[in-house]
Amino acid sequence: MQAQVVIIGSGPSGLLLGQLLSQAGIDTLILERKSRDYVLGRIRAGVLEQGTVSLLEAAGVADRMHAEGEFHDGIELCFDGTRHRIDLSGLTGGKRVMVYGQTEVTRDLMDARSAAGFKTVYEAEDVQIHDFDSARPRVTYRHQGQNVEVHCDFIAGCDGYHGVCRASVPESALTTYERVYPFGWLGVLSHTPPVSDELIYSNHADGFALCSMRSRTLSRYYIQCSLDDDVAAWSDERFWDALRQRLDPEAAETLVTGPSIEKSIAPLRSFVAEPMRFGRLFLAGDAAHIVPPTGAKGLNLAASDVQYLSEALLRYYGEKDEAGINTYSERCLKRIWKAERFSWWMTSLLHKFPDTGPFGQKIQQAELDYLVRSTAASTALAENYVGLPFDFSD
Ligand code: FAD
Ligand code: DHB
Repeated sequence: MQAQVVIIGSGPSGLLLGQLLSQAGIDTLILERKSRDYVLGRIRAGVLEQGTVSLLEAAGVADRMHAEGEFHDGIELCFDGTRHRIDLSGLTGGKRVMVYGQTEVTRDLMDARSAAGFKTVYEAEDVQIHDFDSARPRVTYRHQGQNVEVHCDFIAGCDGYHGVCRASVPESALTTYERVYPFGWLGVLSHTPPVSDELIYSNHADGFALCSMRSRTLSRYYIQCSLDDDVAAWSDERFWDALRQRLDPEAAETLVTGPSIEKSIAPLRSFVAEPMRFGRLFLAGDAAHIVPPTGAKGLNLAASDVQYLSEALLRYYGEKDEAGINTYSERCLKRIWKAERFSWWMTSLLHKFPDTGPFGQKIQQAELDYLVRSTAASTALAENYVGLPFDFSD
């Protein structure tokens, strides 16, 4: 078999890259080890930056997002039992974020891909990448009992943190940077109206809490939990009690609870692998970097990598110009490290850390109080939350 670009992984980065390249006439093949339903069953991010929204528009998959998603002009920070609004659009000259779930973005991209007849192989087993340091890379996999070999020009490693692509790069060619946080997030999805019109990020002596949403009738809530916690030990009732405890009195009073339709624990990690290109292999999204979810940057970073990579490949195929390919890693990493910094900062500001004690809590309170009183500090938060402009990081 032949394809110009073989994309490993059908998460948001692989699907979005596939859409941008395929609609420009480049022959792509996506290989995904799980089933379509499994990929769609993963509940993950919910907040899209304007840059991500624009890219989905350019990819021709934004209609349902505009019909069903919701623009948000602000977020609320809750501490000392009081909520304080950060006026995102007022502080950034009118920029805002779109609340629309990663699951829906993924579904829209999958639907567009199958409607256009571009090929994805789900449940591809034992995907392996070969000869990416040569002019003619190969990818092998097994599907429905058959061994398949595909020759291609480029391989895009969009296969997430546990994927095969980064793991196939010789260790000596990679530098990795990592921080593992001593807690996780317990998330619940429920068919209940959101407690507030805007997202609430709460710092509380019991630990962090986040009130988010997917629509006016579907809420997404998270609480900081211990890494040893087991989802089975968290009944719905225990979750709602813990969440209520971490909110201000008004939100605690108005919180509408109901049965959970999904409940899971995610560990928190910061991770970057450098560089992101090895010959004819490119890494994009979680395959190259992870941020802790506080600040909602994971999916948005995946989208900005894909923007750079799709531009680079279109330039290569259109004009035989390799400049975009040669600068891909460097351009991505500038933006990635700024999002890594912001996600680490928001995580440090809002969570309870086991080892910093009462001193750490006092410092957090002082910083939060400064943040909501100082226009300069609020603006720095708002600018990063809505997404730094691309020219800022180039
Ligand atoms: P992924 O979505 O991980 O997609 C990679 C795909 O590659 C998967 O479908 C996987 O099955 C496939 N794959 C892996 N290995 C192979 C292989 N060997 N062969 C073929 N296919 C393979 N971000 C936020 O902003 N907010 C959040 O609340 C949030 N919550 C998260 C919760 C969890 C549990 C996780 C893991 C991430 C969360 N994120 C969140 C981060 C965000 O979801 C990711 O940044 C985003 O999914 C990255 O997209 P991606 O396409 O790069 O990777
Ligand atoms: C969501 C997740 C986040 O990490 C965040 O900062 C905001 C929203 C969400 O899943 O809705």
